[in-house]
Amino acid sequence: MKFSYVSHLNCPKCNKIYDLHEKHQLCTCGSPLLVSYDLDELKKEFKPKDLLGRPADLWRYHELLPVLKEENIVSLGEGMTPLIPMRNFGKSVAIPNLFMKDEGIIPTGTFKARGAAVGISKAKELGIKELAMPTNGNAGAAWALYAARAGIKSIIVMPLDAPKITRNECAVSGANLYLVNGLISDAGRIVGQAVKDFNLFDASTLKEPYRIEGKKTMGLEIAEQMGWKMPDVILYPTGGGVGIIGIYKALMELLALGWIEGPLPRLVAVQAAGCAPIVRAWEERKAVSEFWENSTTAAFGINVPKALGDFLVLDAVYKTDGCAIAVDDPSILQEQRRIASMEGAFICPEGAAVFAAARILRKNGWIREEETVVALNTGAGVKYPDTVQVEVPELQRDEYIREGRR
Ligand SMILES: Cc1ncc(COP(=O)(O)O)c(C=O)c1O
Ligand SMILES: [Zn+2]
Repeated sequence: MKFSYVSHLNCPKCNKIYDLHEKHQLCTCGSPLLVSYDLDELKKEFKPKDLLGRPADLWRYHELLPVLKEENIVSLGEGMTPLIPMRNFGKSVAIPNLFMKDEGIIPTGTFKARGAAVGISKAKELGIKELAMPTNGNAGAAWALYAARAGIKSIIVMPLDAPKITRNECAVSGANLYLVNGLISDAGRIVGQAVKDFNLFDASTLKEPYRIEGKKTMGLEIAEQMGWKMPDVILYPTGGGVGIIGIYKALMELLALGWIEGPLPRLVAVQAAGCAPIVRAWEERKAVSEFWENSTTAAFGINVPKALGDFLVLDAVYKTDGCAIAVDDPSILQEQRRIASMEGAFICPEGAAVFAAARILRKNGWIREEETVVALNTGAGVKYPDTVQVEVPELQRDEYIREGRR
């Protein structure tokens, strides 16, 4: 058995093939590159039972990951997050078989650790010494920290409004951090110039091919945790779209290995009403999205006005008979409170968006009562303390609680 069955990089737009051993960013045609594996060979040699007894982290799937040598792995123990039944909330929205895959308990507190672990490990394997990336906060924090562990220098540019804690995570890791009074698209332009001026590796979303591979492991884990019997629906909060593209890629690879059977789960791209370019494109049955002007939402991670991989997100939604749906900020924040008070989980606003979407899709019949549904909570609520407004009664030192208990 080989450690990894990775074979080459390929362009999903023009089918050009790239060598695995060199640094690559986008295809010459401008499309993101995808990682290919020798699935025929792997199918003969690799079975689900081979996973038994392996460590409970994402590297248990190393045959389906791009790192060639084990010694290049940079890990903080990421992956194998729990799949939790949401019985109380599920009952209240008439989806009794509702599960939450909780990415809030992973290193750095968001699923971004998965992309960073695999992306940084591969960067180390390729001999990269310094990288730059724009971020809405969480990805920059994860990449800065994993880069520090790998001894790779990083330049991170994020919007001024990004969650404050992510700023601290970058700073404490020793990254070169810059704030821009604008959106992630503005940060992206600044990074693009720095990459040219200083000949840096560009770790922007989908401009390096390996982040998807890390996020793909969410799909592999859901399949393994459900005993290789897939749910009917998977809902995902979609910004740059890497998560949903990765989950779809995982499903296709598992199909090719014969570990799961169709039909595939219907994939749902959930966006915020204040930034819903994928939803608009899906409603118009388009293959690509248009830039969303003046985007705004409290779910900061999904404030991405135009994703480079939009055509891949839309393809995954169309091919699985899924859908795209937008939810407004008041519903997101209300759902965040409901999940905390009914299930004891303080989830991030992006994750709350997914539950708001599940509620709507059940109400309009798109999700049926008997269906098994997996909702991705992509991060911990504690990373966004300001999304919860509290009014707390104050007591004097000689005062006691008289009334008002709930
Ligand atoms: C908590 C959270 N959820 C979801 C997303 C969207 O991720 P993707 O790029 O996979 O669509 C982000 C991106 O920043 C995020 O931070
Ligand atoms: Zn191409």
